[in-house]
Amino acid sequence: MFDMKLNDKTVQAKKGETILDVASRAGVKIPTLCHDDRLDPMGSCRMCLVDVTGQRRLEPACAFKVREGMEIQTESERITKHRQWLLSFYMADHALDEAGLPKERGVGNQLRDHVESYGSAATLPAINAPRESREDANPYIHFDPEACILCNRCVRYCDEVEAVSAITLAGRGSKTTIATADQIGLLDSTCEMCGGCIATCPTGAMTEKPSLESKISDEVITRTTCNFCGVGCQLNLHVTDDKVVRVTSPEPGETVNDGNLCIKGRFAYEFIHSEDRLTKPLIRGEDGKLHETDWDTAIRVVADGLKGVKKRHGADALGFISSSRCTGEENYLMQKLSRAAFITNNIHQCAAT
Ligand code: SF4
Ligand code: SF4
Ligand code: FES
Repeated sequence: MFDMKLNDKTVQAKKGETILDVASRAGVKIPTLCHDDRLDPMGSCRMCLVDVTGQRRLEPACAFKVREGMEIQTESERITKHRQWLLSFYMADHALDEAGLPKERGVGNQLRDHVESYGSAATLPAINAPRESREDANPYIHFDPEACILCNRCVRYCDEVEAVSAITLAGRGSKTTIATADQIGLLDSTCEMCGGCIATCPTGAMTEKPSLESKISDEVITRTTCNFCGVGCQLNLHVTDDKVVRVTSPEPGETVNDGNLCIKGRFAYEFIHSEDRLTKPLIRGEDGKLHETDWDTAIRVVADGLKGVKKRHGADALGFISSSRCTGEENYLMQKLSRAAFITNNIHQCAAT
């Protein structure tokens, strides 16, 4: 560890850390756009530029490594001016709302937050030709090129975290956009529909397609544990009018899944409100058809059936299979039922190898 100065205060840092690492630990907020703690720094958006004593130009806090004795200012008139001009350039190409702010879309629109905090220096004419918008016929991911600032976070996430490399920066100059290789569309690419590109996008250019009609400000958010497998990923359920309308991942670093989710955790929630869901137990009658019954009857029929098999063929004629969608406690109880109640070790769980 060594000492350095951050906004005139002495702070401790260690070799290899960036200015942003040290500032975050010290509780000093530096605005970012292309940065995500899970990704290698790229230093492309220039939002995080700060003043390093002795350096002629402002330096990117997310990529600039600290040294002993370094002196850094994260706020000054010069830095504010830089941020305002930068935001003006980003907004020149951006779809704005009536208040002149980047349109509200997606969860965690950092660009909008920064414009609200710093304002912009001027209204500039659009620099780029309008980017082509191609409908990607996949069911989950909507991409709006008008909101994309080409920060490359989605591409780097797909490559560095998911190791899938389904998307890339395609085209040149004003025609640059995010696309699959050869523009084949996500469904035909290696994309796993994890939606991590949506979660990392700082502008809402990538959003959840099934939730396009939903207004984030109307959504009530509840943190819960995903029950598709036993990993215990945390997720946020967004609810409007008693219906789950969106699922998002908590911020990276906050929970065990570090901001990541799989396709099931992020998108497989429509079953919650499906009319096909079984709400009552069913028993097959002598007519071969399934009939609704109450839980006491259903449990009695299953218990009698199991006891009958044991009596006629012995305990090892029985086998118990539990589910990775159950909690650890429920799986424990299932093996207790198998081993202690029916005296057989024929117990298995679908996630076991
Ligand atoms: S959904 Fe996941 S796999 Fe598909 S492009 Fe986005 S990050 Fe890559
Ligand atoms: S879609 Fe979002 S994350 Fe990807 S480059 Fe555009 S702004 Fe960045
Ligand atoms: S966040 Fe540092 S350059 Fe983008």
